[in-house]
Amino acid sequence: MIAATKKPTENYNSGFQLKGGSISPTQIYKRLVAYFMSFKKLPRDAVGAYLLKEWKSIEKENIVLVDETMLPEIFRIHAESFDSETQKKLQKSSKKLRKIFYVIKSRDKIAGYCTYYLKPELSFKGLKKKSVIQSIAIDKKFRGMGYGKKLLEESIKEMKLNGIASVLLYVNVINTPAIKLYEKMSFQVIKEIEEVCGKQEKCYLMELKLT
Ligand SMILES: CC(C)(COP(=O)(O)OP(=O)(O)OC[C@H]1O[C@@H](n2cnc3c(N)ncnc32)[C@H](O)[C@@H]1OP(=O)(O)O)[C@@H](O)C(=O)NCCC(=O)NCCS
Repeated sequence: MIAATKKPTENYNSGFQLKGGSISPTQIYKRLVAYFMSFKKLPRDAVGAYLLKEWKSIEKENIVLVDETMLPEIFRIHAESFDSETQKKLQKSSKKLRKIFYVIKSRDKIAGYCTYYLKPELSFKGLKKKSVIQSIAIDKKFRGMGYGKKLLEESIKEMKLNGIASVLLYVNVINTPAIKLYEKMSFQVIKEIEEVCGKQEKCYLMELKLT
């Protein structure tokens, strides 16, 4: 394992190089916040991983789960609509979230994909299971033919079966085709947020309640 071969001093130096003033107090503060945030995510990730272990799948017409061989085509479809930075996230999801990374096919061709992550929320009422659409895209050649709707309908059926209380997503306010698709699926805008869909971009947080 790469991490195990690293010397502790290397880790320390890469985090906080105070000598020589190469890292400013603001940067240190930002890093501490980032560490704190990732620490906060640990229990959520652990519960998410447990839920995924217990995940029940249903038979879906023309929809399969991702495998490594599909990734080049999925990246190509992804690149038609999004920047390359989010490709790394997709690659990670294809391993970690395989059970909720759906691929829709037209005969033997990949027409599009949709991937979710789980967002369990613990409150005094108990555990509320939510999911978030991380990314969805349909190959340009197959757009406007019902593939996006079909992919959402089928994957949301599986979300219901697995006790997901609601599905969330972020969409750029200027992405009319996607917003129309989500509205058609009965998603509702909860609020408008800045800086989530890109720098100085506005997006909607939308939700579909399932219970
Ligand atoms: C958004 C996207 C996934 C829609 O997929 P699609 O397969 O083309 O959509 P569908 O054919 O299933 O259309 C379903 C409904 O969505 C709406 N819709 C789809 N494309 C639309 C468009 N260009 N203009 C307006 N409404 C549109 C319509 O209401 C449509 O229903 P209708 O055909 O009965 O009118 C697709 O356009 C895409 O991949 N876009 C680029 C990636 C992206 O923006 N992803 C969303 C990120 S949040």
